[in-house]
Amino acid sequence: MKSKRYLCRRLSTNSTTTKMGKNQHVLTTERLILRPWTEDDAQSLYKYAKHPAIGPIAGWPPHTSIENSREIIRTVFAAPETYAVVLKETEEPVGSIGIMFGDGLHSADMQPNEAEIGYWIGVPYWGRGLTPEAVRRLLRRCFEDLGLKAVWCGYYDGNLQSKRVMEKCGFRFHHTETGKTSPLGDVRTEHFMRLTKQEWKAGGTYIAPVISQKKRYLPLLLLGDEQESAIDQYLERGDMFVMKNNEEDTIATAVVTDEGDGVMELKNLAVAPCHQRKGYGRKMIEYLCNHYKGRCHTLLAGTGESNRTIAFYENCGFGYSHRVANFFTQNYDHLIVEDGQTLKDMVYFARKLEKGS
Ligand SMILES: CC(C)(COP(=O)(O)OP(=O)(O)OC[C@H]1O[C@@H](n2cnc3c(N)ncnc32)[C@H](O)[C@@H]1OP(=O)(O)O)[C@@H](O)C(=O)NCCC(=O)NCCS
Repeated sequence: MKSKRYLCRRLSTNSTTTKMGKNQHVLTTERLILRPWTEDDAQSLYKYAKHPAIGPIAGWPPHTSIENSREIIRTVFAAPETYAVVLKETEEPVGSIGIMFGDGLHSADMQPNEAEIGYWIGVPYWGRGLTPEAVRRLLRRCFEDLGLKAVWCGYYDGNLQSKRVMEKCGFRFHHTETGKTSPLGDVRTEHFMRLTKQEWKAGGTYIAPVISQKKRYLPLLLLGDEQESAIDQYLERGDMFVMKNNEEDTIATAVVTDEGDGVMELKNLAVAPCHQRKGYGRKMIEYLCNHYKGRCHTLLAGTGESNRTIAFYENCGFGYSHRVANFFTQNYDHLIVEDGQTLKDMVYFARKLEKGS
């Protein structure tokens, strides 16, 4: 893996909007399709929405039968901007997300040109960052397509998982309302978070796994490793990650392979040139270390002898590990020159993945 010059341009993102009919759209993200519910989804909906950990914490009762789920699809889920959260991998709807324009559990503070997002996802899919991925896509729909000025999210006291989703998507605490009667009839405290269009535009970045069509990001992959046949050796077996901003510009990519015995290897890391020197490379490394800690003990990174790249890894907490002599001269079909130097050996750096790294 090495770095190379790269012309900055908007990369293919796999995030699309398709209009189906009046108020019916299909939105996509890396891992999800957000599409209108259909009555054929009743069985899947019941499978996930009958679980007592889903509805009550959000204020609605668990579904009681497939017929009950079908009725909810016909009524509640027929509202505009209500989407089934479908996994691309299996095509199964595993959750629901929607934009509510004043008929939801909204705060009295909500103004015209504002809306609220609500969501849930089936218990087997918790903790994979799928809901934040869906919420970020809906935020783009709210601000870019629907012209909204601010979006709200509310969670009942104690629902820390939901609060976390809001924080990850850039929402900020706005106020708390006490003594609210939930649709289940009990009295609760509700916390409201809000995100304005300006905050969203100025907002941060997020990192998501890339599970299919990895070559969409070939220009960036080639920045990290300039020979495509070399990339082909590890791309499919590796875990790939992409960093984007809220407007879906691709900022960085990384590919990590499992080398066995608790060692992961960062095979490819690239930050688009227009985003370089802003800390995104380090941010990706920190994300990867956090992602793999507990599952393995070392993250390795190999590079040619480029002073710039070596300094980067040392700054990110890596130390020299070992070298493979003549790696670049023997394995690449052309000489690779970086910073005026022909790369010869692959030099490996390692970072221990300890708790809290
Ligand atoms: C809230 C909810 C949508 C989160 O969805 P998700 O796709 O799991 O979201 P994330 O993967 O980003 O996880 C969010 C947080 O949940 C917690 N979490 C993750 N996996 C968990 C698990 N298996 N059990 C308990 N909590 C878990 C973590 O704190 C995580 O934050 P972290 O990634 O910083 O560690 C989901 O828990 C849910 O459907 N809950 C029931 C319905 C609900 O509360 N809806 C919102 C109403 S306001």
